[in-house]
Amino acid sequence: MKSAIIGGTGCQRLVNKESVRHEISTPYGHAVVFERYEGPDTLYFLLRHGEGHRVPPHLVNYRANIAALRQLGVTQAIGIYAVGSITSVVLPRMLGVIDQFIDFTGGGREATFFTGADAGVKHVPMVSPYSKRLRTSLIMEASRMDIPLSPKGTYVCTNGPRLETPAEIAMFRRWGADYVGMTAATETILANEAGIEFAGTVYSLNWAAGLDAEGFSFIEEEIADRAIDRLQRLVESALHLGKNAVR
Ligand code: HPA
Repeated sequence: MKSAIIGGTGCQRLVNKESVRHEISTPYGHAVVFERYEGPDTLYFLLRHGEGHRVPPHLVNYRANIAALRQLGVTQAIGIYAVGSITSVVLPRMLGVIDQFIDFTGGGREATFFTGADAGVKHVPMVSPYSKRLRTSLIMEASRMDIPLSPKGTYVCTNGPRLETPAEIAMFRRWGADYVGMTAATETILANEAGIEFAGTVYSLNWAAGLDAEGFSFIEEEIADRAIDRLQRLVESALHLGKNAVR
């Protein structure tokens, strides 16, 4: 089985020296994908913001990234997303599994493969955008590995790259959003359209705008790195590829 992890902010370190770099050409442009393991259980790793984190969220070529994974034969993937906390469902420093999203990107991104004409017209259901099997696997592995993890939450996806105003965050909170980021909705939509079984995980870097009485700030880098390490171990294990995976 071929699996993939799509990582963002803070995930550059996860690509190590043993990773094999592939440049994949797709009808939507190029994507760079790293191969982490060889053998029957191949794990691919994709840095959504590119090598060296040079592409901002609104300019990521999400279609090329997902098309590249599909071309490689990936059937299951888990995204890792940095977020700001809106409710206490996932507090700053903590981890969670997404079960719903609100797309507030405003339509300014290439967020579908179904653009009409030869590409076809298709309305892919978004009732359950995240795979129940993968979410259950993440929750069970977290419990086995003793990693605190929120089992569900609603992600609101803004267009960025600017951060939000306190008024926007107050509105998102009334809408039922638990955390805010700039990438998950677009990636989730395309993974679903591509028929890749998909799950999304988050780690929180901050209280969203207007929610921290002491002012807006991000957690320290060292603490964020530790959260990412925990999340990576969990995600690999949930994909049943980590050394400790229970089958
Ligand atoms: N807003 C949007 N995206 C984010 C945030 C935030 O507060 N923190 C991390 N990613």
